[in-house]
Amino acid sequence: MTGASPASACHDPRVSVDGEGAVDARVWDYWLGGRENYAADRKVGDQVRALFPAIIQVARADRRFLGRAVRHLTGRVGIRQFLDIGTGLPTAENTHEIAQRLAPDARIVYVDNDPLVLAHARALLVSAPEGMTDYVDADVHEPDAILHAAGKTLDLGRPVGLLLLGILNFVQDTEEAVAVVGRLLAALPSGSHVVVSHPTDELGGEASVAAMRFWNRHATPPITARRGDEVARLLDGVELLDPGLVSCSRWRPEPVDLVQPVVPLFGAVGRKP
Ligand SMILES: C[S@@+](CC[C@H](N)C(=O)[O-])C[C@H]1O[C@@H](n2cnc3c(N)ncnc32)[C@H](O)[C@@H]1O
Repeated sequence: MTGASPASACHDPRVSVDGEGAVDARVWDYWLGGRENYAADRKVGDQVRALFPAIIQVARADRRFLGRAVRHLTGRVGIRQFLDIGTGLPTAENTHEIAQRLAPDARIVYVDNDPLVLAHARALLVSAPEGMTDYVDADVHEPDAILHAAGKTLDLGRPVGLLLLGILNFVQDTEEAVAVVGRLLAALPSGSHVVVSHPTDELGGEASVAAMRFWNRHATPPITARRGDEVARLLDGVELLDPGLVSCSRWRPEPVDLVQPVVPLFGAVGRKP
């Protein structure tokens, strides 16, 4: 593992051992049916779900989008390295499992700043012997630190799949979010790809707006929804693969995805020319 990590995250003061205060990584885990969450997370998770019942489908659609995008990049494009920022707690299909099923030599660097994700990172480090995984405890607001740490495992001279799912919404200022993506992509060569999922008010209606407002009063970190034109700005300079910027449940859907609703979470995959 890389980064300024404490020896044991269980002693990290940021870990809310008594469960006070709902935190994104753990609530997301709860919505995905995981067990790494506390009563405070479940309470806020349930309250958000009461306001916006489709939140469960949003979380599942996001993970399915991750799976389709990583399979496409590994199987069709030939990408063998992934930088997955805002990884989340380990779940059923983590990026290295998806990629290494198709390419056992794939290398994956995971990045998150949540201490409980760090505490569970071991599950993300079980790489196929031909490949490699690493975990970096870092903040998305510091792309240079991320690139420096990722360069210990990834060859940044070869194309990388940059995964930014459900994370840019935690960079509140749009100009800063544009700069973060720009800095990351500037360090990667032509042929690299970026995968983004991002919540939006445009597709979700009043219920999802109310749910995000509730989140920002009762949980951390605060979330920012963006319009399609704002998310498109995050992807300035990359060539969007078909079908462009759409609800992530409609990005190259498989039959099982088409029975799911259009979720208020944009998804897009772009190629750096
Ligand atoms: C909504 S979850 C998404 C997880 C995963 N990417 C997915 O799509 O299922 C967002 C993740 O971003 C992490 N996160 C939030 N703010 C962050 C920051 N400033 N730097 C790094 N990670 C952050 C959270 O800890 C959480 O694990």
